Amino acid sequence: MLTIQNLSFSYGVIQVLDDITMVVPTGRITCILGRNGVGKTTLLMNVMGLLRPTIGAVLMGEHDLTDLAADRRSALGLGLVPQGRRIFPRLTVIENLRVALAARRQPTDRIPDDIYDLFPVLKTMSHRRGGDLSGGQQQQLAIARALVADPQVLLLDEPTEGIQPNVIQHIGTVLRHLVDERGLTIVMVEQYLDFVKEIGDRFFLMDRRRVVAEGLTSDLSADLVHRHLTV
Ligand SMILES: Nc1ncnc2c1ncn2[C@@H]1O[C@H](COP(=O)(O)OP(=O)(O)O)[C@@H](O)[C@H]1O
Ligand SMILES: [Mg+2]
Repeated sequence: MLTIQNLSFSYGVIQVLDDITMVVPTGRITCILGRNGVGKTTLLMNVMGLLRPTIGAVLMGEHDLTDLAADRRSALGLGLVPQGRRIFPRLTVIENLRVALAARRQPTDRIPDDIYDLFPVLKTMSHRRGGDLSGGQQQQLAIARALVADPQVLLLDEPTEGIQPNVIQHIGTVLRHLVDERGLTIVMVEQYLDFVKEIGDRFFLMDRRRVVAEGLTSDLSADLVHRHLTV
């Protein structure tokens, strides 16, 4: 359903992505792996439309997204949980969620109840300011905010970064549930290998601007990890 086709990108004269092709299966969790600085975040920004490739294309179903702005991609069912969460610190939890209602394909003025079923802590914290939440609570808010827009394909950039193990466990359970029970497609940049092996289905491994391997997360070999992930 989501296809990245021969995509290259440069920041000015510095090339960061070189001829990236990824065919992302629908209704699965696909993980993008790679050391710091190999271009994972830049790739997700290109997919979301926050950056534009020098050459190449991004396709979703029958739609060619390459020339569409991020809000148009969002309206077609693409969502992003950015690295570092980027919630609004001065807005309350409810206000953060309300911001995303405008992006829904089917408009409503009410936060869907299932958001609180998935992340009960957000109900308890609904009138707290985003900036007063713990890192783990902020990450749940960031994921919830993306879900409020009702995406079909959700991009997540390092969702476990700086988060305590019990919250990582809960986030993993929620993501797996969304994929298995609701058919969501997830593309997740992640450096925490145990989490990738626990909840991920397939992986793409990046090194120096390019994809160097892909396959089932259960087949991720020690040799690949050693060559392309260990610092
Ligand atoms: N706004 C920017 N301008 C110039 N270079 C950048 C910018 N953002 C990231 N880079 C560089 O692009 C490369 C890839 O960065 P990034 O996509 O953030 O990698 P990753 O997410 O894999 O850690 C890095 O060398 C980084 O320093
Ligand atoms: Mg990154």
